[in-house]
Amino acid sequence: MMNNKIDFNNKTILITGGAGFIGSNLAIYFQENFPKSKIIVFDCFRSDEVFQNGNLKSFGHFKNLIGFNGDIICGNINNNDDLSQLNKYKFDFIFHHAAISDTRVYDQEIIMKTNVNSFYDLLKIALKDQAVMVYASSAATYGNLPSPQTVGKENPENPYGFSKYAMDKIATKYSNEYPDLTIVGLRFFNVYGPREFYKAKTSSMIIQLGHQILSGKAPRLFNNSNKILRDFVSIEDVIQANIKACKPKNNGIYNIATGIPRSFQEVADILQKELKTNLGTEYFANPYDGYQYHTQADISSSRKNLDFDPKITLEEGISSYIPEIKRLYGEDFS
Ligand SMILES: NC(=O)c1ccc[n+]([C@@H]2O[C@H](COP(=O)([O-])OP(=O)(O)OC[C@H]3O[C@@H](n4cnc5c(N)ncnc54)[C@H](O)[C@@H]3O)[C@@H](O)[C@H]2O)c1
Repeated sequence: MMNNKIDFNNKTILITGGAGFIGSNLAIYFQENFPKSKIIVFDCFRSDEVFQNGNLKSFGHFKNLIGFNGDIICGNINNNDDLSQLNKYKFDFIFHHAAISDTRVYDQEIIMKTNVNSFYDLLKIALKDQAVMVYASSAATYGNLPSPQTVGKENPENPYGFSKYAMDKIATKYSNEYPDLTIVGLRFFNVYGPREFYKAKTSSMIIQLGHQILSGKAPRLFNNSNKILRDFVSIEDVIQANIKACKPKNNGIYNIATGIPRSFQEVADILQKELKTNLGTEYFANPYDGYQYHTQADISSSRKNLDFDPKITLEEGISSYIPEIKRLYGEDFS
C-alpha cells in the first residue's frame, strides 16, 4: 500500500510511541515500503507501574516490534537526558505518538507533563532539524459536543482531551511563528486493528467483543447500544493519514475517521457473523456520566487539505482483522 508520492527511502524518521499501537504499525509500514529509510523508535515501553484506575502507565510492548530492524531507544519523553539520545540524528520526519493514551486517567499533572510539556521538546527538535512534524491529537478534544465533530469547535471533558487540545493550540502557534515548518495534528477517532491488543482494557471494543464471543459468551453491551454510535476507523486508514499529513496543502488539525458512524450493536453483530456464532447480546446499564452517545467526524477539510480518503468499511476492517483477533485469543496482555 503506497499512500502518496513522497519517497521515504534515505530519510530519517522518528516515531515516538513506536512500541504502541499506531506507532508500531507506522514503523513496520515504513520498513516494508521504504527499505532504505532509517527508522528510529523512541518509547518508554511498559513497566509494572499502574495509574489509580489500575491500568498500566504506558502500553508499549516489545511484541509490537518483532521483525522491526530499525533503531530502538527506550526512553521517557518527560526526561531530557533520554531525549538527548536523539541529538545524534538529523530527522526528516517526526511522528509524535507517545502519550498517555488512556482517556480515563484523571491525574492532571502527569497527563499535562507527558502529553503537553514534551510536545515543546519535540517541536524544538523539529525546528532544529527542519523536520516535518505529524502528531497525534484526538477526538477527545470534542468532549460531548453533538455530531458532526468539526475542527474549531472543541469542548474537552477530561484531562486527556484537554492535553490534546493544548497540543493543538501549541501547534497552531508554532505554525504561525514558523510558517516554513510543516506541522499537522491528526485527530483520530476510534481506531482499531492489529497491534492494539497490548492496550488491554483501553483497546477497541472490536477486539474486546471479539474475544468475549470467542470465549463462548454473548457480547456485553450497554442498554440501547443500537443507538450508541462511533466513527470507527481502521489502522490502515490511520497509516494513510499519517503519510498524507507529511505533504499537506496547509498546516492544520485534521479529523481522521470515516465520517460514517456505526453502532456498538452493529460491531457485535458483524463480529458474530464473521465468527459464525449466534450468542445474542447481554445488555447492562451504562455506569458513566457524561458519556458520548454519537460521534461522526466532519472530514471535509481532511479530504481537501490532506487528500485523506478513508477506504476501509467497518465490515471490511473487521473481516480482515478476524485472523489476528483469533490468534490473540487467550494471550496474556502483560
Ligand atoms: N488508538 C486510538 O483510538 C486513538 C484515538 C485518538 C488519539 N490517539 C492518540 O494516538 C497516539 C497513539 O495512540 P495508540 O493507540 O497507539 O496508544 P498506545 O498507548 O498504544 O501508544 C502510545 C505509546 O506511547 C508510549 N509512551 C507513553 N508514555 C510515554 C513516555 N512518557 N515516554 C515515552 N513513551 C511513552 C507508550 O509506551 C506507548 O507505546 C496517542 O498519542 C493517542 O493519544 C489514539
